[in-house]
Amino acid sequence: MNKEIIKKDFPILDNNKIVYLDSGATTQKPIQVINAIKDFYEKNNANPHRGAYSLSIKATEEYENTRKKIAKFINAKNSEEIIFSKNATESLNLIAYSYGMENLKENDEIVLSIMEHHSNLVPWQKVAKVTNSKLNYMYINENFEISDEEIENKITDKTKIVGITHVSNVLGTINNIEKIIKYAHKKGAIVVVDASQSIPHFKIDVQKLDADFLVFSGHKMLAPLGIGVLYGKKEILDKMTPFLMGGDMIEYVYEQETTFAPLPNKFEAGTQNVEGVIGLGSAIDYIEKIGYDKIQEIEKEIINYAKQELLKLDYIELYLTPNKENHSAVISFNIKGVHPHDVASILDSKGVCVRSGNHCAQPLMRYLGIDSTCRASFYIYNTKEDVDKLIIALNEAYNMFKKYIK
Ligand code: ALA
Repeated sequence: MNKEIIKKDFPILDNNKIVYLDSGATTQKPIQVINAIKDFYEKNNANPHRGAYSLSIKATEEYENTRKKIAKFINAKNSEEIIFSKNATESLNLIAYSYGMENLKENDEIVLSIMEHHSNLVPWQKVAKVTNSKLNYMYINENFEISDEEIENKITDKTKIVGITHVSNVLGTINNIEKIIKYAHKKGAIVVVDASQSIPHFKIDVQKLDADFLVFSGHKMLAPLGIGVLYGKKEILDKMTPFLMGGDMIEYVYEQETTFAPLPNKFEAGTQNVEGVIGLGSAIDYIEKIGYDKIQEIEKEIINYAKQELLKLDYIELYLTPNKENHSAVISFNIKGVHPHDVASILDSKGVCVRSGNHCAQPLMRYLGIDSTCRASFYIYNTKEDVDKLIIALNEAYNMFKKYIK
């Protein structure tokens, strides 16, 4: 599929005549995903697992078939290892509450990277406080990467949990999670991978990675907002007690006691976001139709072009690794001496959407010695022309502000 055809699949881009460079926050949705949701409501809507009538059975089949599709997509051994959640944040909280709170004790250690999004950091602060365990960080070097030495220094025999983002939502650094997982396992720790910023861009194989838990949000990979996934190894999930209690996650309920349903229902209390699940299934079909090789090819071309053009602007500060192989589809930058919110507002007035702020990564910002950045994040519908428009808008912003820069 060529790029122009891909772009045409995203009606919002044409309806708004915008250059959308905020796919790290959420991707736009192709018409195929929008139609799949519409189709579900027009033909199959009922509450899965709750009705003996055929419409509910149809809804159940669609819901459960998507679970199987996701298992295959990330190569999980078993579809029971796929739990639906609201988003990566909820998946991470589930792990923190149901695994962390139950399994950590005084003086155990949790190791995170300094580039974690708050969602893979704040829940672990809570676990550390409640269990009296310690929270340690793997820091980045001058190339914005976590070195092998840092991994080996921080993950010790005391480490019980390692939380690591596969790709930084600020720096775009692709972390060496293969090494981290192997080393953590050698030390007897389990590893929680946040794949929110990686799964839209490259193939994830949970068995090959040997990840214990892996989470992601659907909305960053072309699916609707409000649907997330938690993958966990069955033997670990089986031993965990549920985080949310309510309908459909039980086996028997007595006045004083309850036994829980087997996986995956145990972790899916209450009526679920079925349209989100259907939309996620359709998003996976869309990604698979294009193929990750093609996605990589499109993104590499745009990212390399964007870097090349941004590097020509001497008023810009870039925050990214020089190692091309370790960099994904996110570029953080600042116009030196100008607040990123001001830059983002000017870009917006030129029809260019970028995110500005701390990107839910305050500890990383503090470590970098800055408050915030502008961030351009790219996906399959972006073109070189989008990069050109970004550069033109940046030049205009700089010309507007340069007399105020000290
Ligand atoms: N986590 C999302 C981002 O990085 C919202 O923008």
